[in-house]
Amino acid sequence: MTVTDQDFQLFIYALKTSSKYDFSEYSEKSLKRRLTKILADNKLTLNALINKIKNDTGFVEKIVKEVTVNTTALRYAILPKLKNNSVINIWHAGCSTGQEVYSLMIILNEMGLLEKSKIYATDLNTDVIEQAQKGDYKYRFNIGYLDNFDKVIKENPYNYEEYYDVPYDKYFQIDKPTDTIKMNDFLREKPIYKKHDLVKEGNTLYVKFDIILCRNVIIYFNYNLQSKVFDLFHRNLYDNGCLLLGMHETILGSYSVKFQKKGHAYYKS
Ligand SMILES: C[S@@+](CC[C@H](N)C(=O)[O-])C[C@H]1O[C@@H](n2cnc3c(N)ncnc32)[C@H](O)[C@@H]1O
Repeated sequence: MTVTDQDFQLFIYALKTSSKYDFSEYSEKSLKRRLTKILADNKLTLNALINKIKNDTGFVEKIVKEVTVNTTALRYAILPKLKNNSVINIWHAGCSTGQEVYSLMIILNEMGLLEKSKIYATDLNTDVIEQAQKGDYKYRFNIGYLDNFDKVIKENPYNYEEYYDVPYDKYFQIDKPTDTIKMNDFLREKPIYKKHDLVKEGNTLYVKFDIILCRNVIIYFNYNLQSKVFDLFHRNLYDNGCLLLGMHETILGSYSVKFQKKGHAYYKS
């Protein structure tokens, strides 16, 4: 679905007049992508969306705050605490095709922390690891990724007045005719990729970690397997090290007391 200029203006106007949010000074490109995604995700027409904005304050909060909580937490809460470390060890466990690995490297680079970070990315499936290493993505499937880039790199969700005009081509090249986004070499070559089975293997990376990201992986595991994985993570995080799970994942059972939860981050206690 294409969002027209008129749709966009109606959306901004509805938010401005029916909520406390005024996005009229915002980057139009980024907001248009966000509007397209909101309409698709919620299966709404523009009129239905505007009605919802006028009548459902909970919905407005949801769409406005639907920033990727993890990346925002990383940038504004978790990484600043590590800025004086000589090395920052990060493990993406179950990294799949690597979008999350690239997002984090971009954040680290913008914060001046990439050079001293050691990034490890593992998955059970070697095909996805190969794709992650290639760093080639289909443009049309990754419009949400660009939206994310704007939200995390260009905007400060705590201060909507701030806007950093970071050009995309610092990090990746978009080629619309061939429908590709290609990550730049300095990012592609940075992580250490390895095949690893979270259930069957211990820590075969042989370092301890400041941050472990394991998003949308444990949902496939039963309680016993989850406990096994939490044990692996707990043993291999530094004290106060941080584990980030997916939006709908939580630590249940005996391991919940071994971590302290702050927002969506679990700190080893
Ligand atoms: C849904 S994807 C999540 C990818 C990424 N973390 C994200 O949030 O977009 C789940 C990934 O977990 C991997 N996986 C499943 N079981 C695993 C295991 N036992 N050890 C390591 N990775 C596993 C799969 O191969 C897949 O790439």
